[in-house]
Parts: sequence; structure tokens; C-alpha cells
Amino acid sequence: MRVILLGGPGAGKGTQAGFIKEHFQIPQISTGDMLRAHVKNGTALGLEAKKIMDAGGLVSDDIIMGMVKVRITEPDCQNGFLFDGFPRTLAQADALKAGQITVDAVVEIDVPDEEIIKRMSGRRVHLASGRTYHVVFNPPRVANCDDVTGEPLIQRDDDREDTVKARLKVYHDQTEPLIAYYSNWANEGGAGAPRYIKVHGIGGVDEIRNQIITALGG
Ligand code: AP5
Ligand code: ZN
Repeated sequence: MRVILLGGPGAGKGTQAGFIKEHFQIPQISTGDMLRAHVKNGTALGLEAKKIMDAGGLVSDDIIMGMVKVRITEPDCQNGFLFDGFPRTLAQADALKAGQITVDAVVEIDVPDEEIIKRMSGRRVHLASGRTYHVVFNPPRVANCDDVTGEPLIQRDDDREDTVKARLKVYHDQTEPLIAYYSNWANEGGAGAPRYIKVHGIGGVDEIRNQIITALGG
């Protein structure tokens, strides 16, 4: 199965991606995580991308498409994949279409801006795995037990309030048009048309997980 997870910054894409990849046994392809790995490793791409990410802007479509096209040729992508935070411009969506890289479903997680600001300030991330927590809403505890996981957690540099506001603006201007792009395509049907699934992203993490997994036919 091939899935796109669409939603604003802090909508819960990374959190839900963790569940979807386990359930359907498909790899999570997060362009944000890939860029953060470049930043951590100090590559030329990482140095360039960090400036853009810290300002809340978008990295160029060519760089992103180059990374994704290589990633999906890897053996673990044979039975599908989950795009998290990609595509996020019409140009990226068009490039997928032009490359005949179709998906079975687009899942939109819809969360209002006010909620996003609350979530970002409490987010903590395990950089090596991309696992994401929230100090209040989703604390780092071992499943079905009260123990803290003890893994090293960081706060993302782009979670400062002014950067979050810039990211929200970029989302509304450049990524939100993808909602109409994919929902219209789903309604029209035809070759390569995905299913369009919209989920209200406010509520418990598990409740949202169940809605998504059920809608995807799990
Ligand atoms: P990216 O890493 O993709 O960031 P984003 O889209 O802004 O999304 P986030 O990762 O911030 O949020 P999320 O939706 O994953 O939410 P999460 O699950 O963590 O991109 C970062 C940057 O890289 C971009 O700004 C851009 O510069 C660049 N980039 C990446 N991809 C690109 C592309 N394709 N093209 C160009 N540039 C690109 O949850 C957030 C918090 O809320 C957590 O603390 C979580 O625990 C909590 N939470 C989750 N669910 C709930 C819930 N139901 N209730 C309460 N709290 C919740
Ligand atoms: Zn994320």
C-alpha cells in the first residue's frame, strides 16, 4: 500500500506515521526526518537546508524530489511506503504524477492553527528514530506501562513560536492547495486516482490512529 499523510505542521503526521508503518508494514518516508539527518551529519545539503528549515521555509522541490526518487527505489519500498510531509507543493505533486508514482490513499489530518501552537511547544523528539512525544499529551512512556522510555530527547530548532507561525503560513500558502488537488482527483476517479480520507485531528492519539487504520482498510 502507498499512502500520503497530509497535514499542517504539528498535525500529528509523524505520530500517526509510527502506527501506520507498524500496522501495514511499510516504511515511513519523512522528508523532514531525511533533512534533519543531513543537518545532523553536517552534509552540504544539511547546512543549506538548516537555514531554510529554521526560518520555516521550504527546501527546493528539486532537492526533495531527488531524495525521494532515490529512497523509493530501495528494497524495503517494494510493497509500498508512507509519505510523511511529502509532497507539500503542487510542483512536488505534479512531479510524482509525471513520474507515474501513484498512491492508493491520501490521508489528511485536519487540525486548527491554535491547537498547533500548543502542541509544538511541548514536542520532544528521539532524533535517531524520529519517534515523537509531547510532554503533556503524549509523554515518552513504554507501551502499556508507566516506565519512561529513557531515550535521549531533543526539542526541534524549528519549534520556536515565531518559526511555527512562519511554517503555518507556508502551509496555508503552498501545501493546502494539495487538499483540493487530491480530493478533486479522488472524486474524478480514473487511472491512478487515490482515495481521499479526511480525519479530524483533535482527540486522543489512539482514537485518531483507529480512525485512520480503519479507513485504510486495516
Ligand atoms: P517536517 O518535519 O515535515 O515538519 P512539519 O510538516 O512542519 O510537521 P511536523 O513534523 O512539525 O509535525 P507532525 O505533523 O509530524 O506532528 P507530530 O506527530 O510531530 O518538515 C520540517 C521542515 O523540513 C519544513 O519546515 C521544511 O523546511 C522542510 N521540508 C520537509 N519536507 C519538505 C518537502 N516535502 N518540501 C520542502 N521542504 C520540506 O506531532 C506534533 C506534536 O503534537 C508532538 O508533540 C505530538 O506528541 C503531539 N500530538 C500528536 N498527536 C496529538 C494529538 N492527537 N493530541 C495532542 N497532541 C498530539
Ligand atoms: Zn513530522
